[in-house]
Amino acid sequence: MEKVNGNPPFTMFSTLNPELDRRLGGGIPRASLIMIYGVNGSGKSVLAQQIAWGALQSNLTVRYISTETTIRALLRSMERLGFENISDYFLKGKFRVNTLHSKSIKWNRKVAKQLMSCLTYFIERLDNCDVIIIDSLTPIAIHSNESDIVEFFSCCRKVADETCKTTVITIHPGILTSVVFTRLLSIADGVIELKIVVSSRKLLRVMKILKMSGREFIGESIAAFEVEPHRGIKVLPLSYAKA
Ligand SMILES: Nc1ncnc2c1ncn2[C@@H]1O[C@H](COP(=O)(O)OP(=O)(O)OP(=O)(O)O)[C@@H](O)[C@H]1O
Ligand SMILES: [Mg+2]
Repeated sequence: MEKVNGNPPFTMFSTLNPELDRRLGGGIPRASLIMIYGVNGSGKSVLAQQIAWGALQSNLTVRYISTETTIRALLRSMERLGFENISDYFLKGKFRVNTLHSKSIKWNRKVAKQLMSCLTYFIERLDNCDVIIIDSLTPIAIHSNESDIVEFFSCCRKVADETCKTTVITIHPGILTSVVFTRLLSIADGVIELKIVVSSRKLLRVMKILKMSGREFIGESIAAFEVEPHRGIKVLPLSYAKA
């Protein structure tokens, strides 16, 4: 593992949310591929932004590839979540953002295949970056062949090994068949499932860590959480997740 600014090498970085780190088994592993999957509104983007923020605070450089929003809206959203000086990181080039305006694209299998190839090419050649966030892969993956999705995940896993980068991919579970999901589960180093559940007539967001780089999870791999302005993810007491 390479040294960061002369500091000793480290194998994981914090999300800057101690409760979240604890549920993750210590933080986000470096040189890894992490898949976050969940339905619309389950918190994929918020979690991805929390991970980006944690990486920046660990002096890592982040490349955020968004298919959902504009640069300005992303920076605003992160500010609203309490990551107040995110614009400074952006201006200093520590937080780089690429956006793909997926809604203006006339999608078909050929377009999706070409975009997946471009994304693969881009990621394989990305320099000066420690963490890559793809939020989300859904618009491309929904029109892609299953084998192309699996191949893309394999490419990101290879990039993790060869360049020590951490790649986080968010995706909607509805587009994955159980066979593809099982294959992605085995390729990724970390898999986080997000769900919206109804508990005592209240909507709750629940996160389940299905896998995280060889760490064994007993009992506390599940957490209910809320998204709070100025605070980001707030992990609720364990009793909420078990309810
Ligand atoms: N900047 C923010 N400040 C406060 N709340 C937010 C912020 N961004 C998102 N939220 C809230 O957090 C919840 C999760 O939103 P998020 O965008 O992370 O979901 P998602 O899983 O990415 O959804 P989608 O699949 O539609 O992209 C929503 O209720 C949303 O209103
Ligand atoms: Mg999102």
